[in-house]
Amino acid sequence: MSILSLANPYVCELVAYRPGKPIEETAREIGMKPADIVKLASNENSLGASPRAVRAMQEAASGVHIYPDGASYALRCKLAETFGLDVAQTAVGNGSSELIELMAHIFVRPGIETIAADYSFTLYAIVTRLLNGTYKSVPNKADWSHDLQGMLAAITPQTRLVFITNPTNPVGTMVGQAEIDAYMAAVPEHVITVFDEAYIDFAEEQPDTLRYVREGRPVVVLRTFSKAYGLAGARVGAALTTPEIAELLHKARSPFNVNLLGQAAALAALDDPEHVARSVAMVNAGRRQYEQAFRAWGIPYIPSQTNFILVQVGQGKAVFDACLRRGVILRPMDAYGLPEYIRITIGTETENKRCLAVLAEVLGKQK
Ligand SMILES: Cc1ncc(COP(=O)(O)O)c(C=O)c1O
Repeated sequence: MSILSLANPYVCELVAYRPGKPIEETAREIGMKPADIVKLASNENSLGASPRAVRAMQEAASGVHIYPDGASYALRCKLAETFGLDVAQTAVGNGSSELIELMAHIFVRPGIETIAADYSFTLYAIVTRLLNGTYKSVPNKADWSHDLQGMLAAITPQTRLVFITNPTNPVGTMVGQAEIDAYMAAVPEHVITVFDEAYIDFAEEQPDTLRYVREGRPVVVLRTFSKAYGLAGARVGAALTTPEIAELLHKARSPFNVNLLGQAAALAALDDPEHVARSVAMVNAGRRQYEQAFRAWGIPYIPSQTNFILVQVGQGKAVFDACLRRGVILRPMDAYGLPEYIRITIGTETENKRCLAVLAEVLGKQK
């Protein structure tokens, strides 16, 4: 008997999330040293973590034989203080990915719908289907930003979750305060809106969605320590929401979902806003490097409010493969329905130069 015949068929049908290609795996495949490979595939922070966060993890390491505080109380208090909320309005997860999955566990079941934009994070579709719900996606506007009015129009009595990725991955565009306010004025009460703000620290203007949390509206603002804070490997994300939803997230999570080192790192990182500012400055400078080159080469790119940039190279997968063979890992976009594009994480000046040199060679452009 096939095990697959015993599993839930909708789980068997899932297409697993495809992360950026790991450095070690690439090194093995192309016979290069890991240190000679540049990974600009997963929107990590090339500046690394805050030195304070690294020290906090080193200090916490001697205590790893003891379970961490399952409630992550100190970290949640710090989040509450940082964002001007009550600790009861916070929950944390093993990355914001876990919080996205928990939202599905809490609200999705057969017959229930979730809504997101065509070009947004692929995990929303996966977690909806994992719970055998119905995932609906709404076309982005001509400027690639979310069409919030279109998303409102897609809501039915069966809709429970609307995911607004702001700025959005993989295109890097944003919706502003006025559009969000108009959406919030019209969204029906039975819908919980998830503002996934993984990249908000990089945005020029940051709409205030926490005002809706303070007003007690059914919204969840997701933040992550993986991007501007440089802690992708520590796996910490935060949900800022109503006490009711925070309580549901606590009920649905596994007992020690944020590990000891992750809690220590995130707590220390919140005390180092200068590191975030340095990361944002690096990204702003790097974005100019890429934009200048793409303009000179005459290849279209989408102006980005994030630490990555989407560029139209023609055969995205072939360009990805060619760059990979030269030791630069980028992200092909076929899984996102954008086969002509590749997504490049903005790294240090040196990494960006190497990436641009390799791209110039692969695309036959002037360095
Ligand atoms: C839009 C968006 N949301 C959430 C995540 C998940 O981040 P993490 O689980 O590392 O917090 C990502 C990761 O790339 C993302 O792009």
